[in-house]
Amino acid sequence: MNQPILGVIFDLDGVIVSTDNCHYLAWKRMADEEGIPFDRTINERLRGVSRMESLSIILEKATKDYTEAEKQEMATRKNGYYVELIQSLTCGDLLEGAGDALALLRNKGIKIAIGSSSRNTPIILKQIGLEDSFDAVADGNAITRSKPDPEVFLLAAKSLGLAPANCLVVEDADAGVEAALAGGMRVLGVGGAAANSNATFAAESLAAANFDTILTNQ
Ligand code: BG6
Ligand code: MG
Repeated sequence: MNQPILGVIFDLDGVIVSTDNCHYLAWKRMADEEGIPFDRTINERLRGVSRMESLSIILEKATKDYTEAEKQEMATRKNGYYVELIQSLTCGDLLEGAGDALALLRNKGIKIAIGSSSRNTPIILKQIGLEDSFDAVADGNAITRSKPDPEVFLLAAKSLGLAPANCLVVEDADAGVEAALAGGMRVLGVGGAAANSNATFAAESLAAANFDTILTNQ
């Protein structure tokens, strides 16, 4: 018999808000400046992956070696471009069904949290007007190991005061699905992770997810 789901931990990028294109444009600008080939197919591999690990993936196509200091500079430069772009995010950039899902869970007395690798989580939540909407926020600023390590989700569960077995994670990245399972949580795969056969539940988007069924058919 499964434990009841008492808390839902949402990934942010690609689950609550559409920042994919901002990440892509910022990395693309940096990669073009360096003459490193980068396209949307490579960008898909960066989903859920930390900033420095994303850079390592991009550098697979580089024709020269970069020093640690150069890598730090490139990541910082990309982040500057990214932060510029996310200044124009608004609540209109919430992904379809995100607002309704949060309201429904709140009504049912389910605790809600963010579990994101992004160190820009506070800026993004403020831009989309959700800075006071979660019972806990665990993000890239508070962790040392990024997904697929479960650290960020375990921290979110702990902040909610819940055992992992009582938490459901919502993820769009395969690395996040792995992280949730490694942390002993169930996971709803949406978007890019809807096809992940390891996910406990799947839905094309939050709009298509039936939380009534998920919460009762545990
Ligand atoms: C994740 C994104 O949420 O955050 C990744 O899916 C991104 O694409 C990662 O690299 C880190 O984000 P940031 O904002 O700290 O550079
Ligand atoms: Mg994501």
